Amino acid sequence: MTDCRDAETGATHHVGVLPGDGIGPEVVAAAVQVLDAAESRWYFRTRRSWSPLGTTAYLEHGGVEQQEVDRLAETDAVLLGAIGDPRLPAGVLERELLLRLRREFDLYANLRPVRLRPGVLSPLRSVTPAECDLLVVRENTESLYCNAGGAVHVGGTAEIATQESINSRHAVDRVLRFAFEAALERRRHVTLVHKVNVLEYAGGLWQRRFDAIAAEYPDIATAYVHVDAACLYLVTDPGRYDVVVTDNLFGDIFSDLGAGIQGGIGLSASANLDPTRCAPSLFEPIHGSAPDIAGRGVADPVGAILSLALLLDFLGEKDAAQGISDAVDDHLLARAGGPSGATVEVGADIAARVVGPSVPSPLAGRTETSAPSRYFFP
Ligand code: IPM
Ligand code: MG
Repeated sequence: MTDCRDAETGATHHVGVLPGDGIGPEVVAAAVQVLDAAESRWYFRTRRSWSPLGTTAYLEHGGVEQQEVDRLAETDAVLLGAIGDPRLPAGVLERELLLRLRREFDLYANLRPVRLRPGVLSPLRSVTPAECDLLVVRENTESLYCNAGGAVHVGGTAEIATQESINSRHAVDRVLRFAFEAALERRRHVTLVHKVNVLEYAGGLWQRRFDAIAAEYPDIATAYVHVDAACLYLVTDPGRYDVVVTDNLFGDIFSDLGAGIQGGIGLSASANLDPTRCAPSLFEPIHGSAPDIAGRGVADPVGAILSLALLLDFLGEKDAAQGISDAVDDHLLARAGGPSGATVEVGADIAARVVGPSVPSPLAGRTETSAPSRYFFP
């Protein structure tokens, strides 16, 4: 498969910045502060295209403007803050912007690292950082998210609604392969999470393809767990997981639980990847727009900053990505489980902790093209 975009260290990367709604602009501003710090310490640059998409633009234009989506499509990667605002009914922008971008850009692998970082208090009393380090690989284009189905007699006592789960072998195979490749870079273990005892058709396809693809990776150990038990084990024994691969809806639920056990949704990052690099991949904190605290400058920007680290890693700037991840760890250790404090101060503190290469050279990284990024560092 040809890569349409390079993962080239030292290049000028074209980054779409989509702050969105609610606390989105606040956490993105903090992440951009950290990006500035990284650019001043490593030898890469970004050209930034700011996107106005969000609730205000939607209300002004009566929808999501195609030309704005086209502008994003030209970038190498997009950093998104959050979308959603009470001025629009719940779900409109989620479907018409976020899910649309995931689908139109074919961002089929949704990566959600779950890692208890040093200094962070997990609600699980006994878990240590060594026991909580997993990568959720969520299929991001199908399942119940296709909105297939329909309803008759809506509002009446005879109402019937159907909501179908779409599962194609094509989509299942590619995300399973992605998960196995990810495991090669980690602890070489993949768990399939599904509900094959009840969801006979979808589960059957996932299980058969999982077994077939596992046979191509004899060095990787595998496990299968039903989704309900998988949630239980995530709380009682997170150390059993390395890479967890699952469908869109199970992944949505499981990864929020993961966000909780790693210290909170404010610390959680995600990547929506097109691993073929034909479209820009999209990086976003897992949290929503939190209208209740928007404008108060108190949102924790760590999830957005770690999403930036994932973005840079994917673009080939692995050292900068690791540097940001380390700076976040330093910051969290200093925070010592306390509250996050003002958003701008957290951004400034992490930016100040970003340490560049010990012997910087203006030529460093300029001439080398890194191997395609594996983006599994965090
Ligand atoms: C997420 C969110 C979205 C999803 C919503 C906002 C549509 O919960 O990114 O996990 O369900 O995928
Ligand atoms: Mg979710």
